[in-house]
Amino acid sequence: MQKRPDGIIIAIDGPSGAGKSTIARLLAERLGYIQIDTGAMYRAAAFLLSQANVDLGDLSAVEQFCRNIDIRLEMVSGKQVVRANGMDVTDKIRTPEMSLLTSRTSTLKPVREALLTAQQLMGNKGGVVLEGRDIGTVVFPDAEIKFYLSASVEERAKRRCEELSLKGDPVTLADTITDVVERDRQDSERDLAPLRQAEDAVMIDSSLLSIDEVLAEMESLVHNKIELLESSL
Ligand code: DC
Repeated sequence: MQKRPDGIIIAIDGPSGAGKSTIARLLAERLGYIQIDTGAMYRAAAFLLSQANVDLGDLSAVEQFCRNIDIRLEMVSGKQVVRANGMDVTDKIRTPEMSLLTSRTSTLKPVREALLTAQQLMGNKGGVVLEGRDIGTVVFPDAEIKFYLSASVEERAKRRCEELSLKGDPVTLADTITDVVERDRQDSERDLAPLRQAEDAVMIDSSLLSIDEVLAEMESLVHNKIELLESSL
């Protein structure tokens, strides 16, 4: 296999709230890799579309708009900052309303095409941990290692509730379960790049595992893979 200049590509897919972002960040830190949170990119695109009041039913208007969007993920003092057309939208894209809107806008072909190209450009040199829904199936089907990280609906909703209440934005568990089920449905039933485990992805269920346990399992598989690739060069 051709070695990429900056390392391997690690793909982490799975439903919302399975812990992908935390794990991807820690894994990237340990390996000295760059974390690419593709969900944040979809959220930033949804934010821009809603701010500009683009009619989501008019695909040519969406396409026109997406031609000129500029979404960047930057690390500032160890924290990921999401910039959309120059604006810092890091916190604005994390509301429950924005989650539901993103689930809808991410079904649109022009949005997916614009972000697919951006993600491939950001990751193709390797040395990256990409997390999302379609990394192992569509964005980088040739990623050197793929994980599918999941957890039960209840556990994922519980985690989301805790996260939002820490931010001073409390929601009920029942409402969060409804949101999680709805987002799962939208993400996995859409026609384009639906949420799906790649055939060659390693499945990890994080319901009963701590972050450290998930990380340890992934890190060991990643190191084995890197050794194997290096020995075959
Ligand atoms: O991972 P997240 O919850 O921040 O993702 C927000 C939304 O973006 C989610 O509903 C699905 C969508 N998404 C996608 O369609 N493809 C990706 N690669 C990542 C996210």
